[in-house]
Amino acid sequence: MVPIIKTEGLCHRYSVGTPFERAAIEDIDFEAKRGEFIGVIGHTGSGKSTFIQHLNGLLKPTAGRVYYEGRDIWESKAATRETRFKVGIVFQYPEYQLFEETVYKDIAFGPKNMKISDDEIDMRVREAAEFVGIDSELLERSPFDLSGGQKRRVAIAGVIAMGPSVLILDEPGAGLDPRGRESILENIKRYHEATDATVIMVTHSMEEIASAVDRIVVFNRGRIAMNGTPGEVFSRGEELEDMGLSVPEVTRIAKRLRELGLPVDTSVYTIEQLKSILLSLKGGGRGA
Ligand SMILES: Nc1ncnc2c1ncn2[C@@H]1O[C@H](COP(=O)(O)OP(=O)(O)OP(=O)(O)O)[C@@H](O)[C@H]1O
Ligand SMILES: [Mg+2]
Repeated sequence: MVPIIKTEGLCHRYSVGTPFERAAIEDIDFEAKRGEFIGVIGHTGSGKSTFIQHLNGLLKPTAGRVYYEGRDIWESKAATRETRFKVGIVFQYPEYQLFEETVYKDIAFGPKNMKISDDEIDMRVREAAEFVGIDSELLERSPFDLSGGQKRRVAIAGVIAMGPSVLILDEPGAGLDPRGRESILENIKRYHEATDATVIMVTHSMEEIASAVDRIVVFNRGRIAMNGTPGEVFSRGEELEDMGLSVPEVTRIAKRLRELGLPVDTSVYTIEQLKSILLSLKGGGRGA
């Protein structure tokens, strides 16, 4: 099957032709399948945000190509425009982009540009609000009366309401307390399960990424350094640390146990996995 999103040899240089010219991303070959949940991690400045902004045509590659369902998104104006509707991006700190008088109008802003009926818009707004846990009684309030976490949810709902086939979120939990982060992540997981959307989430949190995604793409200095399942990626703990990234706490504990001589698989990353390994050892299964 044709990947829903694909990039080939993607490069982006900022400030071309000035003394500040530099490559932010280089030679990125990437594919996402329909329905996949992909996590993107990498040190600050490694090119994550630059990369994702290419996937819906907000940034134009300085070299290489981006395909949506097999079609080059820069092939024509119509192709670029269509991609912007199909691939929705929630930016870092999206709440700063809320500006309407009511929450309802803010969520409806995207769908209103889509030539769909008012009834359809209404349905989408309510459904999107529900996905992100915004009560219907909040819809007539001003977005500026809401808490930081609620504003973030409204901004995410605005993108979801456009019914994107690919939903991209750039650090959706940034700046929220751990509870707020976890609850937004739960909402995103629920959205992913309920739709056939592809979800691409940029995050700094290993714990967050480990529990949610099918695949992790690691950025380092503008290139993709690793691309694999959470187990495959976390088993390369030392390389990750060299890139300034940590592994989940559970993986670190597994690694330490192995150093102490226990036959523990160091690609584990959930408490459940570690628990079942430890229980099997206790059962006197395999010796060290
Ligand atoms: N608008 C811009 N003009 C010039 N350089 C930029 C611009 N945006 C990003 N850069 C540079 O490109 C590189 C990649 O930045 P990018 O924002 O894509 O990284 P990131 O992985 O998203 O980082 P963070 O984790 O801090 O969000 C960095 O060196 C950054 O300074
Ligand atoms: Mg960024």
